[in-house]
This record gives sequence, structure tokens and C-alpha cells, in this order.
Amino acid sequence: MAVPLLDIKTQNAALREELESAFRRVLDSGRFILGPEVEELENEIAVMCGVKHAIGVSSGTDAILLALMALDIGPGDEVLCPTFTFFATAGCVARTGATPVFVDVDPVSFNIDLEDAAEKVTEHTKAIIPVHLFGQVADMDGVMALAEKHGLQVIEDGAQSLGARYRGRPAGSIGHFGTFSFFPSKNLGGFGDAGMLVCNDDRLGEKAHILRTHGSKPKYYHKYIGGNFRLDPVQAALLRVKVPHYGKYTENRQENADYYSENLLELPQVEMTAEDDSNAQGPARILLPRIGPDRMHIWNQYTIRVLDVDGAATSGETARDRLKAFLADKGIGAEIYYPVCMHQQECFKTRYPDNAWTSIRMDSRYPNGVADRLAAECLSIPIYPELTREQKDEVIAAIAEFLATG
Ligand SMILES: Cc1ncc(COP(=O)(O)O)c(C=O)c1O
Repeated sequence: MAVPLLDIKTQNAALREELESAFRRVLDSGRFILGPEVEELENEIAVMCGVKHAIGVSSGTDAILLALMALDIGPGDEVLCPTFTFFATAGCVARTGATPVFVDVDPVSFNIDLEDAAEKVTEHTKAIIPVHLFGQVADMDGVMALAEKHGLQVIEDGAQSLGARYRGRPAGSIGHFGTFSFFPSKNLGGFGDAGMLVCNDDRLGEKAHILRTHGSKPKYYHKYIGGNFRLDPVQAALLRVKVPHYGKYTENRQENADYYSENLLELPQVEMTAEDDSNAQGPARILLPRIGPDRMHIWNQYTIRVLDVDGAATSGETARDRLKAFLADKGIGAEIYYPVCMHQQECFKTRYPDNAWTSIRMDSRYPNGVADRLAAECLSIPIYPELTREQKDEVIAAIAEFLATG
């Protein structure tokens, strides 16, 4: 492929010797459960996120589950979460026995719509999970104000946003808990599954720590019913090799995003997403992702909106689907995050048959709410740090050709 969506091998090849020596260090230590490598990574992530406690866990999914367990979320409780997200956000809520309540998203930031969230608060609502989608932090002042008003716990799903900032504050450091993923496609990409849970509260930090190992403290004396959510030292050691390079990876992603935005805007029919979403009905055919006020975006994805939702109604194929296929023909990787919203997922429809989907944004522009339309329009193009200028130009030229011919 001329321009893959992600090129993990190039990043790792540059670090081969350091990675091999980190692996050997763990191998020689014989310590394969928790221990100093995990603790060092926890310290490094705590510093990066400006938090008191970081707890290494087995995945970004388990970080969310552990946070919910530490907050005693369970049957009878409702948890607000955006419907336009990766499954883990909502799946973890359901696994605790609580009910995920799906909230629409803002069409400009792709993040949780707080007006819709406020509409959905009930006496059973216990928590809200803002997801910092694609590398940009949700409106956390708004989230915290809503949470304070209704006494809600806040779990920031920062799986895609390690190091992103909101009004100078790092993602994950604002709510009661923050969660991160080191899935290989994330900005700090591991060598398998791995994740991190962060918080500032000593009591919650201690409880999450205990829950990570079956809820036991001391060993074999179980205070809580926990699980095995431990991060492996081999993952921690390998990830630590990447930590010193993380700032540079982010800078490269930001430069790539600026380059795309600057050059794609030169094309007719391409516009930056308007601050008030006023150009969502065209005449532009492609809208570029907008950086919100006081945000530091880390660009886990560079996600464009390809307008023309009518296409799906008439031919079953959206303009976005056609662009994806067009790019694939030219050897350019692109991906749809996410084609099916949570309120449309079979497992949730079966489990919560009485939960009708509603959104305060159901108007003539968004007859079914914003999220479903984004699911039909969004396309993420290659943004990884090692992209060359030629590769970016190839992507831009292909999009230009699609607009000129399609
Ligand atoms: C928004 C979001 N939440 C949660 C997760 C779960 O992380 P993991 O794959 O490490 O379990 C991911 C990533 O896959 C994600 O993108």
C-alpha cells in the first residue's frame, strides 16, 4: 500500500535496539507480574497527565471497567455516554449491570452533546463518560458543571487522547477518573493490549489498585470483588522506550494535520467545519476537522466529513463510502470510525428494548440526530507521525481527483 492508514513497523524499527534491550531486561529479571517496570511507566504517565495516581492495567477497556467498579456503579444505575464512540465505552457500563444511556454528539467536535446529556439525566443517573474522540478533549467545563449539578461521577475516556489538553489541563486529569489505551493504533502504541487508569483522589486510587488484583489486600484477603486487570511488565518496559519520543510523535501528527488542513482547503468544495456547524448542508462536499477553543489536539485520527447523505438513500452507498473505495484503489488506507452508533447496536437493542433513541438535535438537518449522520459521513485518513511529505501529497492529490471526477 502506498500510504497505509497506519505504519507501526516504521516507528518500531527506529527503536529496535532499545526495544530489544528492554525486552531482555524483563526476560533477565524473571519478574513477569507487576514490579518496577510497571511502576516506572505509571510514574511517567502520572507526570504526563499531571495526576497523583496512575494504575497500569490490561487494556483501555479494563481501565473503564475498573473505574466503574471503583465507583460502585452497578444494577439500577444509569451512565451517560456518547453514542458515537468505540464499543468499550458503553460495553463496560453494561457489564457492571448498569444501563448505558446514549447521548448524541456535537457535529463540530464529535464529542458528547451536553444539552442532550442534560435532557437525559434522571434520578438513577450516577455517572457520565465523556469520550475525548479522535484526540480532542470534550467540553470538560460543561461536563463538570453538569456533574456537579446532579452529583455525577465523571470518567474521562481518554483512550484516544493521551497528552491532549483542555484549557491547559491534561486529558484524564479533570474528572474523577481518566482512562487510556495503549492499543497498537493509539498514539502511544504498545505491543499488544495495555492501558492505564489515572486519578487524583487517594481513596479512589487505592480502591482501584486493590480491585486490579482481585480486590485483595493483603493477598488472599478479599475486601472487594475485583478482577485480574494487571498490566504486564513486558508491555510496560516496551512502552517506556516510546515515552521519551511521545512529544515528537505528537508534534509530527500536529504538523501532518496542519499540512492537510492548509492544502485541502485550497481545493474547491472543501471547507473547514464552521464553528456553528452552519456549513453542514453544503455546498462544500468535504468538511475538515476543527480544533476547538483552548484545545490541544493530539490527532489520533484526522477525520473528515464527506457530505451527501442522500447518496445512501438512493444508491445505498454514501459519498464517504465512494471516497474510501476510491482511495483504496490508489493504495491509500482510510477507515470509518464508527459506522454504527451504540444506540443502533444489536446487543444493546436486545438488552434494553424499551430504550428509544432520542436526541434534542432531531431537526430537518439531523432527522435522526447528529451521531447517525456522522456515522455515514466520517472518514479518517492517514495521520501517523512517520508520514512523509510525498505520502501526504499523494493523499491530497487523490482527494482532489475524487472531487474533480466524482
Ligand atoms: C474511545 C475508546 N474507548 C476505549 C477503547 C478501548 O481500549 P482498548 O482497545 O485498549 O481496550 C478504545 C480503543 O480501542 C477507544 O478508542
